[in-house]
Amino acid sequence: MTHDRHSYAEPALVRTTHLELELDLDFTAKVLAGSATHTLAWSGPGDRLVLDTRDLTVLAVEGSTEDGWEPLEYSLAVPDSELGSALTIRTDRQQRVRVSYRTAPTATGLQWLEPSMTAGGVLPYMFSQSQAIHARSWVPVQDTPSVRFSYAAHVTAPPELMVLMSADNGTASRRTGSYDVVMPEPIPSYLLAIAAGDLVFEPMGDRSGVWAEPEMAKLAAAEFADTEEMMRVTEALFGPYRWGRYDILVLPPSFPYGGMENPRMTFATPTVVIGDKSLVTVVAHELAHSWSGNLVTQDSWDDIWLNEGFTSYVENRIVEAVYGPELAVMETAIKQHATVVKLDPLSAAEQAVELPGLNHKSEYHGTSGLGPLKGSWFLAWLEERFSREVFDPFLRGYFDRFAFQSINSEHFAAHLREQLLDQHPGVVTDAEIAAWLDEPGIPAFAERAQSARFELVDQSRDKWLSSGDLPDAAGWTTHEWLRFLDAAPDVWTADQLQQLDREFGLTGTANGEIARRWYSIVAASTYTPAYGELASFLTRVGRMKLVLPVYRALVDSTGRDFAAKVFESARPGYHPITIAAVEKILASA
Ligand code: BES
Ligand code: ZN
Repeated sequence: MTHDRHSYAEPALVRTTHLELELDLDFTAKVLAGSATHTLAWSGPGDRLVLDTRDLTVLAVEGSTEDGWEPLEYSLAVPDSELGSALTIRTDRQQRVRVSYRTAPTATGLQWLEPSMTAGGVLPYMFSQSQAIHARSWVPVQDTPSVRFSYAAHVTAPPELMVLMSADNGTASRRTGSYDVVMPEPIPSYLLAIAAGDLVFEPMGDRSGVWAEPEMAKLAAAEFADTEEMMRVTEALFGPYRWGRYDILVLPPSFPYGGMENPRMTFATPTVVIGDKSLVTVVAHELAHSWSGNLVTQDSWDDIWLNEGFTSYVENRIVEAVYGPELAVMETAIKQHATVVKLDPLSAAEQAVELPGLNHKSEYHGTSGLGPLKGSWFLAWLEERFSREVFDPFLRGYFDRFAFQSINSEHFAAHLREQLLDQHPGVVTDAEIAAWLDEPGIPAFAERAQSARFELVDQSRDKWLSSGDLPDAAGWTTHEWLRFLDAAPDVWTADQLQQLDREFGLTGTANGEIARRWYSIVAASTYTPAYGELASFLTRVGRMKLVLPVYRALVDSTGRDFAAKVFESARPGYHPITIAAVEKILASA
């Protein structure tokens, strides 16, 4: 087992196998209070249980006895700014340990939204985001993906609010103020999730539906209407969907990610609900995690590529099967471009840090880091070399073999050797595999995705930049626009910005992926006529991938002041994780 340096837990000694949560949601105090009861499996000698916590107030700790509960001694360590405080409990190796606690209003894993920050504007909303190490801010838990447990929860809340968790919620949106859910499959702590708000259910198919505020539910169900088909094609490729239902909860625009693969209940940003399905690959991505990540899990954050790299690959296969190879290739080309653009200016030594071999440990436990992209590129390369006929059953066998387990890169490498390389000798060399797994950078022999449509886009961009002739973009899809902006120079002239904007109306676009690229160029070019819309975009949306690049470009060009002013008005609507990330960018100025 890998040592997880992001957790104080000691899973070699004892592990939680089942968790029972009793929680009450207090929207006035912005506090979640109750208890977490751990059912434990002891393996080594020892008389203590160490749980991860951050900013929790521990009220009592008890251990099970033959006829009830007895108080246990415990101590809460001085907090570490990144990891929180270890809660060390003296035990008699009890089978069950119960911690009574409450969260802080500033819990890093929760956001409490005033009614004014919701679509309806009447009821409040709250949601969690546990990945990577924020579960500990709302549940005292062994907060490491190497430990898996099933859970059951009883949650009370104001009766006008619906409560949902990453569990078996059912589809009846009857509000009672008292909810019971079960997650029968063992999951790692970062997949613990909860949300409450004015939420209604809109079915999409037999196994899938959307939960959202009433204003949003039908729109989202139409946007995500291909979900059942995505499930079917993934099952055909990589084996059964093992989680029962697959529902999607649409969050307010402050949700800091595009999506979060909470089992049975993907959490999704509303910024992809724009009416043309052009950004629904987020659903393909989060659904893919039902195999890579949720079913087969990395046992520490150092091996995140096993999760996000595989998911990015599976996502691409889903996109190809549902929407065709042309879109799949465009998506791959966009991801590869993002990797390569970041890497090209780096020296070999810097590349080694940014993009180590997949077997080397990276610093990644957030969203930065390029290992995931290298991982998906590696799998696509294997697929190409071995052919789908061989590679697809191999990958399916991998998901079957390690289902509901947490593993590391060495487990994968051994499985690869045994089940693929040794079975088909001579297809790839050891040196090639080592280049992916052990050496920095992207191997020189890795081929980049070629999109004929992107080549045309590149030509029309070059022509426009040299002659001023506007591109013939009437039939362009979102992805062609993304390519146009991605591969353009960072800084444009005011004339160029104005000409393109007048013709295509990019300022004010409803498409967040276009917006983040457009406003980054606007900011880098100090094109002040668009700053009003830029500021309103940054205030309306809190998804980090969309807002952080714009803040970075602003700070680098116009300096800190304007960015800080926009942040000041946007901040009340941002999630704590986004606030911390923007503050870091401003501090670097
Ligand atoms: N699980 C990730 C989000 C994440 C990663 C949260 C690391 C915290 C730490 C999620 O599946 C993801 O990758 N989301 C992407 C979606 C995209 C790749 C389609 C996002 O948020 O942009
Ligand atoms: Zn992901």
